[in-house]
Amino acid sequence: MADTTTMEKLVSLCKRRGFVFQSSEIYGGLGSVWDYGPLGVELKRNVKDRWWRAMVHARDDIEGLDAAILMHPKVWEASGHVAGFTDPLVDCKTCKARFRADKLAECQCPQKPSKRPGEHSTCELTEPRMFNLMFKTFMGPVEESASVVYLRPETAQGIYVNYQNVLQSSRQKVPFGIAQIGKAFRNEITPGNFIFRTREFEQMEMQFFVKPGTDEEWFERWRGLRLAWYHEIGLVPERIRWHQHGPTELAHYARAAYDIEYEFPFGWQEIEGIHNRGDFDLGRHQEYSGKKMEYFDQAANERYLPYIIETSAGADRVTLTLLVDAYREEQVEGETRVVLGLHPGIAPIKAAVLPLVKKDGMPEVALELYNDLRTHFPCFYDDAGAIGRRYRRMDEAGTPFCVTVDGQTLTERTVTVRHRDTMIQERIALEAVGAYVRERLT
Ligand code: GAP
Repeated sequence: MADTTTMEKLVSLCKRRGFVFQSSEIYGGLGSVWDYGPLGVELKRNVKDRWWRAMVHARDDIEGLDAAILMHPKVWEASGHVAGFTDPLVDCKTCKARFRADKLAECQCPQKPSKRPGEHSTCELTEPRMFNLMFKTFMGPVEESASVVYLRPETAQGIYVNYQNVLQSSRQKVPFGIAQIGKAFRNEITPGNFIFRTREFEQMEMQFFVKPGTDEEWFERWRGLRLAWYHEIGLVPERIRWHQHGPTELAHYARAAYDIEYEFPFGWQEIEGIHNRGDFDLGRHQEYSGKKMEYFDQAANERYLPYIIETSAGADRVTLTLLVDAYREEQVEGETRVVLGLHPGIAPIKAAVLPLVKKDGMPEVALELYNDLRTHFPCFYDDAGAIGRRYRRMDEAGTPFCVTVDGQTLTERTVTVRHRDTMIQERIALEAVGAYVRERLT
């Protein structure tokens, strides 16, 4: 059963605290396109930075790449997107709404939301027709079919077409991987659930090139590593599960596929896909470009087309998952306390510095501490309003530590550190604050 209240509260918090805003809001918004505000941009950057650290910096066998969004149109013929990246679309002739024919059971009739499309007496659904999800545009000044280019619907293809470039310039050997974070665009028929399914989004994809025959072993290894990453960024393990694709679900390129799913308020949904793509991609690009994509293994003196194990996650979707996972409400002294219990390493602001009162020299000491801490990690200075209210504002922002400068600070050079999750306060030396917070960010 979809828990719409939690999502509504989260969307409202995201706007109130500056995580996510509707795109072009002053013009009424643009369908399923969202902007990240000051806290949201930090949160999403932390997601991408941790992914990059785990996938590129922490490994000797993966290289980074940043390919362009616009690519030669033949890429999308080779990849199968021109012919097959389609969803079945049905229109309602009565209310003019459009739905995915294969997702009708999850949709509401706009005329009567308690019913599914087609169930209301006046509904008149058309036969399904295939609709390509790629956004088309034109390159150069002339809008003609010869100048059609597409906004990439996935980042993966930029990796395949650069595979030889990276291999040669980095002097890697198979098995090795290429990782990329970047925007992708899909003209989704039924986007929704806030930033879960949007038309413009960011992907974090890694393609791992392996010798045929070793693919199943690497597939299992990558499944394990990727699941562990979600545990490391703090998601509740019980809300994560595997979904194995059955024969009818498998994408045209996949020999095997598993999704990592999360239990959202609107049900279990995919956050990342792990695919054994075999030699489909390099084989197709070899065929369409006429360029050899084979790998020569010098030690074994053999040539082969590597198989690819792909890990593909959405940065926006992971950001939403973290927000949903972290959101909670508690009753404290007759009031509702809203908390984002984000992992300290993921939280947008790591520490807030708060003078207890705006006098007696406290702001001066607090500002000095704040100016020192901000050179090491994102901090916030707040001297406005009652201390309880300031703590609550930081709870909603997901800030794990509030450092308060009080009377004792001036006499003993100590401060209190208030912990977001337990609300427990402890007193530590003023000089120790930086190291104290830093130790807890990993
Ligand atoms: N290269 C393989 C690929 O793109 P996918 O399952 O279509 O596979 C991978 O997408 C991930 O990208 C998904 O698990 C999801 O996190 C994210 N994603 C896909 N479509 C999205 C959309 N419309 N909005 C937000 N994220 C999306």
